[in-house]
Amino acid sequence: MSNPRRFRLPTGNRRAFLGSAVAGGLLPSRLVDRAVGQERLTLNQAAATVHPLATQSAMRILRSGGNAVDAAISAALVLGVVDGHNSGVGGGCLVLIRRSNGQLLAIDGRETAGLAAHETMFVRDGKADPSLSQNGPLACGVPGQIAAFKQMHATSGRLDWKELFADAHRAASEGVAASKSIGRTIAAEAVQLQKYPASRAIYFHPSGKPIAEGERLIQKDLANTLAMISEQGPQWFYDGPFATACETYLKSIGGILTREDFRNYQAKTRTAIRTPYRQYEVIGFPTPSSGGMHIAQMLMMLQPFPVGAWMRSRPDAYYHLLCEVMKRAFADRAYWLGDSDFVDVPEGLLDPTYALDRMSDFNPDQASMGIEHGWPADANQQANSPHGVSSSEDKKHTTHLTTADDEGNWVAMTCTVNTSWGSKVTIPGTGVILNNQMDDFSISPGIPNAFGLIGSQANAVAAGKRPLSSMSPTMVLDSKGQPVLTAGGAGGPRIINATLQVLLRVLDGGYRVNQAVDAPRVHHQWQPDQLLIEDQIGVGTSLEISPDLRKQLMKLGHPWKASSSIAICQAIARQGDRLTAAHDPRAQGSSEQ
Ligand code: DON
Repeated sequence: MSNPRRFRLPTGNRRAFLGSAVAGGLLPSRLVDRAVGQERLTLNQAAATVHPLATQSAMRILRSGGNAVDAAISAALVLGVVDGHNSGVGGGCLVLIRRSNGQLLAIDGRETAGLAAHETMFVRDGKADPSLSQNGPLACGVPGQIAAFKQMHATSGRLDWKELFADAHRAASEGVAASKSIGRTIAAEAVQLQKYPASRAIYFHPSGKPIAEGERLIQKDLANTLAMISEQGPQWFYDGPFATACETYLKSIGGILTREDFRNYQAKTRTAIRTPYRQYEVIGFPTPSSGGMHIAQMLMMLQPFPVGAWMRSRPDAYYHLLCEVMKRAFADRAYWLGDSDFVDVPEGLLDPTYALDRMSDFNPDQASMGIEHGWPADANQQANSPHGVSSSEDKKHTTHLTTADDEGNWVAMTCTVNTSWGSKVTIPGTGVILNNQMDDFSISPGIPNAFGLIGSQANAVAAGKRPLSSMSPTMVLDSKGQPVLTAGGAGGPRIINATLQVLLRVLDGGYRVNQAVDAPRVHHQWQPDQLLIEDQIGVGTSLEISPDLRKQLMKLGHPWKASSSIAICQAIARQGDRLTAAHDPRAQGSSEQ
């Protein structure tokens, strides 16, 4: 750590901070609770997704007696049909549920490497080849979405399982107009998609012309697959005709997943990460997501600072601070994080004293140079080798959706096939395109993945392991344990920083949830030393990251680059006794309440 100036806590004492529940001062009055006892907290229901048909499906389910869990499953299944480049039954998901009885569930439907997977499976002639982890039959892990949905439904759903498939089935069999992003991504990935006959048959005209925005995309095979899963349950998928079809086809084109891999798949229930922040408690998703861990770390680093005041009146100080906490968290991510079922991820990363120590060289007047990962107290000093991180181009894949009902059930769910159209491989006769989540492993030291992320041994490929994720479904509870906010996003590593910024805008800044989602964002992922700034969002408003502000940040030592979009976030807040849902204007979604 090269920066000599030590930061002193601005107010209170260190002990008060470490005790964490810091009272008062920066609280947005509109979020302060009424005394509610056991009565129903909210008067309405809410949903936000990136596609109007999915939002409508969630609301239909809520209005026909389903709860937020049913609504989220139905909406996600619709998204898999109308927004299939982002997510679908061939992919995975991480789901955070807050049940009306206060129970928290973190359901891990992350894809899993097959039994034949190994550390050098993407190495050819001594060199890692990212084209193999990003496209084609080796790129896919066993999909987890259906297993996760089954677990959600079994633990917390209310409506009949079959009912949850009705809207998705109709959209697939009758077809829907291709959205702008469907049209754009089919065209962008045409070369890879056309390599696989079943993908070519769905996403292209017989002439080879890609299905364009506005044209009807009919998916009869996918409709049949959805019908089979709805009628016969996940077994049809994991230990029946679908698993067999995958093994047979993938083997024929050089893949390694087997029916046994599918049979072995289990959605896992994890223990959510709980972090006191101001008078709230922030609930995050643990590994194999890195999101919950790093949002928690960053909140603990931010806790001593007057974040709300700086956000409103000293934006240069606010963004400088954000940038500094992001760099420190992402340096730790690259070094320490991996599937905790396989590697020891130090719990000390979540220790408030560690967070304070990480910020001990924070200089309010200058960007820190040469930041490295830290050493949490319980870390093994011999553990892994550090690697760097570089930035990625603007990319929009994956999807975050959120639902809440009037009983107090809330769901935050991020679903993905990883990058657009995943592996590009559709299993013939099923309409299911498989993910390319194997690319979220570090396929070899020093080789960046599709998001420019480089990991350590902790995230190396291994049989049965889950790749590290940035997906960050997050919830915030008030001092009575009642939900007041949920947020999450799509956008690779940008998800983590974008979700953090939505939380801060509401919790510290007192902004309404839609303003918090709309506001321009920044992103830093440690290496390269480059701050991404949404310079075209909020132009002419008080939220704009103006040319002057950008100059100030540059002067503080933050070289920056413009970004058109730093993640796509959906959120719900309880403001007073009303739920408000917000969808991200950076995509063509919708929200209803
Ligand atoms: O799990 C992850 O972190 C990634 N597979 C998510 C991909 C994503 O958000 C793509 N969006 N740009």
